[in-house]
Amino acid sequence: MAEVQLERRGSVAVLTLDNPPVNALSVALLTSLAQHLAAGLKEPAIKAFVLTGAGKIFVGGADIREFGKPRPPDAPTLAEIIEKIENARVPFVAAINGVAAGGGLELALACHARLAAPAARLGLPEVKLGLLPGAGGTQRLPRLVGVEAALEMIVSGELKPAQAGLELGIVDAVAGGDLLTAAVAHAETLAAAGKPPRKTREIGGKIAAANAKPDLFAGWRKETARRFRGYEAPQRCIDCVEAAVKLPFAEGLKAERAAFLERVGSEQSKALRHVFFAEREVAKIPDVPPDTPTLPIKSAAVIGCGTMGGGIAMNFANAGIPVTVVESTKEALERGLAIIAKNYAATAAKGRLGQAEMEKRIGLIKGASSFEEIKGADIVIEAVFEEMEIKKEVFAKLDAIAKPEAILATNTSTLDVDAIAAVTKRPEKVIGTHFFSPANVMRLLENVRGKKSSKETIASVMALSRRIGKIGVLVGVCDGFVGNRMLHAYTRQANSLILEGALPHEVDKVIYDFGFPMGPFAMGDLAGLDVSWRIRKRRLAEGGDNHPAYIVGDRLCELGRFGQKTGAGWFRYEAGSRTPVPDPLVEELILKASAELGITRRKIGGEEILERCMYPLINEGAKILDEGLALRASDIDIVWINGYGFPAYRGGPMFYADRIGLATIAQAMRRLHEQHGAILRPAALLERLAAAGKGFGEP
Ligand SMILES: NC(=O)c1ccc[n+]([C@@H]2O[C@H](COP(=O)([O-])OP(=O)(O)OC[C@H]3O[C@@H](n4cnc5c(N)ncnc54)[C@H](O)[C@@H]3O)[C@@H](O)[C@H]2O)c1
Repeated sequence: MAEVQLERRGSVAVLTLDNPPVNALSVALLTSLAQHLAAGLKEPAIKAFVLTGAGKIFVGGADIREFGKPRPPDAPTLAEIIEKIENARVPFVAAINGVAAGGGLELALACHARLAAPAARLGLPEVKLGLLPGAGGTQRLPRLVGVEAALEMIVSGELKPAQAGLELGIVDAVAGGDLLTAAVAHAETLAAAGKPPRKTREIGGKIAAANAKPDLFAGWRKETARRFRGYEAPQRCIDCVEAAVKLPFAEGLKAERAAFLERVGSEQSKALRHVFFAEREVAKIPDVPPDTPTLPIKSAAVIGCGTMGGGIAMNFANAGIPVTVVESTKEALERGLAIIAKNYAATAAKGRLGQAEMEKRIGLIKGASSFEEIKGADIVIEAVFEEMEIKKEVFAKLDAIAKPEAILATNTSTLDVDAIAAVTKRPEKVIGTHFFSPANVMRLLENVRGKKSSKETIASVMALSRRIGKIGVLVGVCDGFVGNRMLHAYTRQANSLILEGALPHEVDKVIYDFGFPMGPFAMGDLAGLDVSWRIRKRRLAEGGDNHPAYIVGDRLCELGRFGQKTGAGWFRYEAGSRTPVPDPLVEELILKASAELGITRRKIGGEEILERCMYPLINEGAKILDEGLALRASDIDIVWINGYGFPAYRGGPMFYADRIGLATIAQAMRRLHEQHGAILRPAALLERLAAAGKGFGEP
């Protein structure tokens, strides 16, 4: 039960906000705080107040579960409470015992003095949910720290350590000893001085300084548009800070309030709030309860030190877990380890990693050329060539050498995890861990549950994902798993579109403008066109169909145009540049292919391009859900946001589909099905939900 406790320490009243786990400012907590304030402010014996948080956190922020829900009409708002505190006749001191984020920091900013514990962190992260600080944060912070420092904090949403907060002027002191005692003493001193409490709203010097820089806001808007392309909230944050500079305090506060309400109702904020909850939901697996025992991972091994193996090994070292890397030859091992060292050196050169820390991490990675060396590992991740025979051979060997309780994981992107597990005597210990390239950077990890993977194995790998800084999503075995299977549905349409009349740069522009970092053709060039070409050739050799959509992609590969690494693919690349330049030769190949296939090219508009790329992607997601290969629609959203650059401010493909309305998408898919045949048949789940007027988020 959320409540505020009041404790008397002499003439000082200590108010402790207590609403586990993060002391969120729920209606219940605010109501309790308002009651204490009303009573306490009337008492002549109370000469000062100290505000602090119970447990390890001051206040984590607003209670976002209450957003958009009806509030009791008489419930006090944070803004009202803040107004009372700032205008109180007696001083209020914030004793910031831990994180003070969002509304928590706003509450502290309205106090007349602030003391922080050394481990406290301070910030206004509302922007990350598509919002902005709505209780005076954009007006008070610039008055304390200056306009540019406030813009940086509010626009980025990052939290600052207490010491930085002191240097910036957010807090008056960092109290190393007993914070509460120090805060009470400070409150007594302020009360004894008998001066009217210092109101943050009345501090003007730093705000006035910004008026001397007329281009400041225009510059911030431009840079922010580049840094957070497509995101609306950062721009609205700048508007509010500008209002703090240009308007009287009360007017600025009104402007902030209006902007905040607009944000709460915005599509982008709804999407980002969905993503916030989806990220927390992803760890829940219905048949693997949270108390499932996990295997403690104290050491790891990686087989293969190529593109993926090297990055995977770095993840372990970064998390402080010793890792042995096995390669087939001494040369390959040396090459792989040298790339790891080069990657670390590049991070250190950018100032993101200290020399000692870098050496420590490199020291945790041990090279080996014999499988014998993996004997002690708790988990072995295989990242050798993508060929079933090689994988089977490796797993049979691993099974014989690894200790019996060790987990054996494969990083395969297309092969059947169950077939790999079948060559071992411990299929319950086998699982897929599908990393994304570059493996040391990308946050997504698809954990592929085999038919026989045990609950313990699943729970262990999900826990390990978090430990190495990844967001693990549990998926089932199928061709391409969740992400690549959907990617395939999308790139196939992109390839069809260019045969029907569009050009690669036109398709890419639509997808880029939608919010992806790049379109499907530039992405192909980045990943290497030869990868999917080899897979297509293999499938063809195995008797699969040869879809004409890929005719141009095949021809590019036959010409040795594998993408960026060969200086040309779907686009041309100037030496040393990663900027795709449309190439007349590719256009010629495309026109020729259309003619050969008897297709009369037509003008295809942006809207059609977007629908043709996104709806089949969503349709494939629906099939995946129906087949039980993803646990929930929001897991698919997490996969696409973290693995493929789907814009988070659109909430992921399945959330986006719900916003459009599944009836609209089903109707479009029916039309596409008629025009293009079975490959675009509407998914049964899509039809069912559309008919019932439901969305993926509420099946
Ligand atoms: N490259 C990607 O973007 C990507 C993404 C996800 C998953 N994967 C998967 O990861 C795996 C590795 O791919 P990659 O891109 O790193 O390939 P790669 O060719 O860069 O690296 C494979 C490495 O494995 C080594 N190797 C081969 N057989 C071995 C053996 N028996 N013992 C020890 N080492 C051996 C090779 O010498 C090579 O260095 C594949 O299964 C691939 O499908 C790749």
